[in-house]
Amino acid sequence: METVVASKPMIKVAAISGSLRKASNNRGLIRTALELTKESINGIEMEYVDISPLPMLNTDLVVDGKLPPAVEAFRQKILQSDSILFASPEYNYSLTGPLKNALDWGSLSPNVWADKAAAIVSAGGGFGGARSHYHLRQVGVFLDLHFINKPEFYLNEFEPPAKFDSDGNLIDEASKEKMKQVLVALQAFTLRLQPKN
Ligand SMILES: Cc1cc2nc3c(=O)[nH]c(=O)nc-3n(C[C@H](O)[C@H](O)[C@H](O)COP(=O)(O)O)c2cc1C
Repeated sequence: METVVASKPMIKVAAISGSLRKASNNRGLIRTALELTKESINGIEMEYVDISPLPMLNTDLVVDGKLPPAVEAFRQKILQSDSILFASPEYNYSLTGPLKNALDWGSLSPNVWADKAAAIVSAGGGFGGARSHYHLRQVGVFLDLHFINKPEFYLNEFEPPAKFDSDGNLIDEASKEKMKQVLVALQAFTLRLQPKN
């Protein structure tokens, strides 16, 4: 008798970096996640969604119910995804302004974040950006985002040996393995949240 191995349904993940810098380490974390989904994790289709084209939120930019094209394109990408991977650096003990701006644009009715699974990773100073996680989780309460609780991923970028090269590429193998665990947990949680037929 033939053995049938059930394959996992594909999930779509939108990956967002709260840092806009070209050589951003947090953006480097997303590049690692993209590589992992292509090479060693089955069932995740991940897309990097750039938040830098978004204007600063000003509801005067909404004309006759129409949003600026960059905002509309961003919202569509979020709507079409099943879950979100946030690379969220810490600015002054919180999430970054650009990330909050993107969250706010997405929250305009209808809220595109609603009922999506999410995970947070970060690289930063002493606490590895961890304090941004807890503010992002708080914002996510009102946005109806559902964050995985574990594993937590926050990487102290200054502690030797070097974790990133000068272009912001993650070069630390242990951190790559940790990222893999985050993605597997996000995948499992996303599938749990999906309605059963
Ligand atoms: C305005 C500003 C505020 C910052 N505040 C903090 C902070 O509170 N805690 C921290 O760990 N790092 C802080 N940093 C450092 C960044 O989080 C750190 O350099 C991080 O690597 C930036 O991410 P990136 O490499 O992806 O651009 C701050 C950086 C900036 C520009």
